[in-house]
Amino acid sequence: MLVRMICLAVGYVCGLFQTSYIYGKKQGIDIREHGSGNAGSTNALRTLGKKAGALTLLGDCLKCVAAIWIIRLIFASHGGSDLLLLELYAGAGCILGHNFPFYLNFKGGKGIAASVGLLLALDWRLFLVCAVLFFGAFFLTHYVSLGSLLAYLGFVIALIVFGQMGTYDCTQRALYEMYVVAAGLMLLAYWRHRQNIVRLLHGNENKIFLGKKR
Ligand code: G3P
Repeated sequence: MLVRMICLAVGYVCGLFQTSYIYGKKQGIDIREHGSGNAGSTNALRTLGKKAGALTLLGDCLKCVAAIWIIRLIFASHGGSDLLLLELYAGAGCILGHNFPFYLNFKGGKGIAASVGLLLALDWRLFLVCAVLFFGAFFLTHYVSLGSLLAYLGFVIALIVFGQMGTYDCTQRALYEMYVVAAGLMLLAYWRHRQNIVRLLHGNENKIFLGKKR
């Protein structure tokens, strides 16, 4: 339990680096008071432009990669075959730090870019599955939120499928725990997107056009 808490704490501290908030402050705005109010890459793109969107995606993604790499370094020799579980806890901690930064009154983002980092650091095959789902939904509908929600569902399903296929060198107990943590992260993402879900259901969700705005 203590090891899991350490992973969550390391992740949480890394997640506190709020790229869009910092970028916005440099431009003299609080990103959380503009656009969708989300401190994330989509809202940075919407509110501050492509460069801000790209930097936020990169920064928020890398902080999760960093959290997982730190845990990998610390526990490589101690984590045994269940190191992947500890890495997932570090990623979860990072998403919690991103979504609920204590120094911003716990009002952060929705954790999608950080989740991209989690997938990249955890298993590139999971990233690939989620990327296909995300870009498929996004290019068909121009809804980033729909892509994010679908990709999260894909993450949990793919993790379970890969896990049960024997892809990971983990005990069955660790695998089950990973499924629970991943499902928890999905529920958290859905809850953070609750307003997006209502807008999607009403057909008035904000669209993103990467080229010329229509
Ligand atoms: O990255 C979060 C995305 O799924 C939705 O963001 O700003 O449109 O609520 P936003």
